[in-house]
Amino acid sequence: MNHIAAHDATPAIRPIGPTFGAEVAGMPIHGDVTPELLVQFVSALHRYRVLVVPQANVGPADLVAFSRRFGPLEIHSRFESTLPDHPEVFCVGNIGQASFSRGIEQWHADSSYRPVPSDASLFYGEIVPPEGGDTLFADATAAYRSLDSATKQRIDGLTAVHSLESLRQWGLRHNPDRKQEVDNRADSFPPVRHPLVRRHPVTGARSLFVCPAVISHIEGLPIGESTALIDALIAHIAQPRTVYVHRWSQGDLVMWDNRAVLHTASLFDHTRYRRLMYRTTIAGDAPGLSE
Ligand code: OGA
Ligand code: MN
Repeated sequence: MNHIAAHDATPAIRPIGPTFGAEVAGMPIHGDVTPELLVQFVSALHRYRVLVVPQANVGPADLVAFSRRFGPLEIHSRFESTLPDHPEVFCVGNIGQASFSRGIEQWHADSSYRPVPSDASLFYGEIVPPEGGDTLFADATAAYRSLDSATKQRIDGLTAVHSLESLRQWGLRHNPDRKQEVDNRADSFPPVRHPLVRRHPVTGARSLFVCPAVISHIEGLPIGESTALIDALIAHIAQPRTVYVHRWSQGDLVMWDNRAVLHTASLFDHTRYRRLMYRTTIAGDAPGLSE
């Protein structure tokens, strides 16, 4: 493969979302990207929090090689949904063993149930439905900034408990037909505590770390108050002024900073359409994303 022309090119960065998000045209996605290009890409990620590379058109090997440049990759706990030849690639969709998502997920940041959650994720559209199956991003940084100071004071310093068991229970409540599914992953991931307001290690910006289906409770609050606070924060985050909806074209790649945004999916007609997405997940404290 000849990547020489791409090495010399400077990607064109164009803001797309209301407060965040940028499209990066002409970014080569493979393991040999020059350090200079990588630095530009990472600083764009820190600045815009979600980067869209239209028509990246990559295979799993290049996706993994590119992703590794940022740091070690997570292997997803739902191992059966990873690619046999590339276990770093987690498959989402309604094809084969892909992790089935019909768009009823809640806002979240990836792998918040781990002691050190993922820094960033890359998501590639291998097969995309003609309608629905969008990915929605919320600017948890801008959303925090726009809270009134009384709310900021109330929530700064609060700690939320995230657990895979909560997510499993939530899944059972919302997918009654999948009750038979055995999911023992919760045994390997005991509940973890994370700040409700997190501070980005590079930009220093505070953001809301709220994952309603994964958080069992906020410490020190009666459960009703905890749930009401989470609901209110999500209602604030999910306003159109802080949301970017990515409508997929086949071949698009999107990378987001889990430390600064939340995401979720929209419904699609899984009885009529096929969807297959490849995700790589950069483990927490990634060397390539921390400066
Ligand atoms: C994910 C995810 C959303 C989507 O894979 O982490 O949240 O659009 N996916 O499928
Ligand atoms: Mn996700």
